Amino acid sequence: MSHATKDELSFDEFDELRNPPPAETDFSRMVDRISRRGMLGGLMAFGAASFVLGSTAMTPAQAGHHGGGRLGFKAVPTSTADTITVPEGFSWHNVVRWGEPLTSDAPDFDPVTRGTGASQALAFGDNNDGMALFAHGDKSILAVNNEYTNRSIIYGNRETKLPENADDVNKGKAAHGVSVIEIKQTNGKWAVVKNSPYNRRITADSDMEITGPAAGHDLLKTAADATGRSSKGTWNNCGNGRTPWGTYLACEENFNGYFSSSDKELDIPAELARYGIGHDDWGYAWAMADERFDISKHPNEPNRAGYVVEIDPLDPSSTPKKRTALGRFKHENAELVVAGDGRVVVYMGDDERGEFLYKFVSDGKYVAGGDNADLLDSGSLYVAKFSDDGQGEWVILTPETTGMASQAEISIHTRQAASAVGATTMDRPEWISSNPSRVEAYCCLTNNKNRGVKPNAGGDDTSVNGPNPREKNNYGQIVRWIPTGADHGANTFSWDLFVMAGNPTVHSDAYAGSANVTPENMFNSPDGLAFDSTGIMWIQTDGSYSNEGDFAGQGNNMMLAADPETGEIKRFLTGPNECEITGFAWSADRRTMFVGVQHPGERGDSHFPDGGDSVPRSTVVAIQRDDGAKIG
Ligand code: FEO
Ligand code: CA
Ligand code: CA
Repeated sequence: MSHATKDELSFDEFDELRNPPPAETDFSRMVDRISRRGMLGGLMAFGAASFVLGSTAMTPAQAGHHGGGRLGFKAVPTSTADTITVPEGFSWHNVVRWGEPLTSDAPDFDPVTRGTGASQALAFGDNNDGMALFAHGDKSILAVNNEYTNRSIIYGNRETKLPENADDVNKGKAAHGVSVIEIKQTNGKWAVVKNSPYNRRITADSDMEITGPAAGHDLLKTAADATGRSSKGTWNNCGNGRTPWGTYLACEENFNGYFSSSDKELDIPAELARYGIGHDDWGYAWAMADERFDISKHPNEPNRAGYVVEIDPLDPSSTPKKRTALGRFKHENAELVVAGDGRVVVYMGDDERGEFLYKFVSDGKYVAGGDNADLLDSGSLYVAKFSDDGQGEWVILTPETTGMASQAEISIHTRQAASAVGATTMDRPEWISSNPSRVEAYCCLTNNKNRGVKPNAGGDDTSVNGPNPREKNNYGQIVRWIPTGADHGANTFSWDLFVMAGNPTVHSDAYAGSANVTPENMFNSPDGLAFDSTGIMWIQTDGSYSNEGDFAGQGNNMMLAADPETGEIKRFLTGPNECEITGFAWSADRRTMFVGVQHPGERGDSHFPDGGDSVPRSTVVAIQRDDGAKIG
């Protein structure tokens, strides 16, 4: 495989390379099982449809009924234009782009070299994803994840389109992590406040503290830290969370793709293989300049990644904390809600085909204005088990339930713990968001072409099941659960599917989507998800933009708005070519909504945002109503 081809692989395709089909005998058994339930599989699709929005007692209105018409804008059509489109009466502008300097003594973005290690460390990172805005007095501090880099773009100055020397690697590492920036509005337009004391870059080389049950465990001890209580750097920070005590949660997702082995004969331990770690990295070549990414020399190093990282955005000198109590997996986001009794509940997805949905419940209680600093260090970790009858339970992960040696080990090998209790394999859990108007939560299950085809990386069965009812699921769905007793701390819940995405212009079966999907609002691969303060749910997509075949007529990735009461879904925004739309934030006055445009031109066909023949750059954009009214 050429490097260029490797570079074009998505994270999930990369996982496929790490997780080839199982041995013949197991595979045959599974195929046999699937074919035996072929009929049942068909019925399952219909059976699950009975748990689609509107057909259970959980929802008051039928899908497609426009209820109160709370989505007060004219939907935009799909688009293949290399720009952003928003409805009439709204407008957008750029706030910050990859490579923009955060201080006045840092160089401007150089489109020829595309930066150096030194310039990138002083500039906004690449591929912005989850974000949150913290209002501090009259200041607006935006914390933004910089998930990864597209090698073909940031190394576009190199013939190989890959890092070729140590400084190239340093540039890549500095383009990852988190950017904390002060932004300010001038004549209505938001921009970075250069030299703000709040501006900070957290990168793959920043000091981190490891806290919670796994801190100090032997599996976290490395050459650099014999105590197992610190680590260097955070990377592949995907979705995010925020706490009511004013901190930011950056979630480490595809951390595996950065590790490699200089010993190509190394027997990869099962514990690393489960997380997709193997002999080769994904083209980042970090081990070329930083030996800790060589697993043959530093086998415990990958155990220090894959966590939720808590950051104080208002204290640039604070050390980010990796909260191991929240488990180690490919974290998408961390949706934090405070249960009725004050305990903190964090819902989290593990975004890989056939992985699981988790929940953390703190031991301590949140007290407004109190000391909540370490609430995320002790509590219970649960994984979701869905029944096909619309009910479900959260199964606690302890040494007793999993057979594992300690809570520390469960915090590090969380996937294995969840497999041990028979958790429900899901179609790639992406963002989770809770409804501020009702005790319920939603999770985007983005897609899973392996559903019903092959097991997950741990060998768990992935036959169709209630919330994941379609084999070879190209389109994705959004599952919703209502905790028993309207208590997010409860151990049981009921669930339904808010929407099954699909293409009703191509299919007439379950792949057409649920009743609230129409030729006018269709989409694929829901990923980003956030409720605004008015109870509208915003859905962002990271799917196929081929605009043909199964995806004919769906155009570029987009953002939609949904009314959770009625099931109505309307397209609000379309993105430029080859991007995904990801990340949400709102200004303190709710008159600006911030949205992320990630990896425009990842395959070479975009010049967003600057047009002409410019280098495409991931960008945070601001969306406002022309009449100045609130937007969410
Ligand atoms: Fe980084 Fe699962 O998206
Ligand atoms: Ca995502
Ligand atoms: Ca995605």
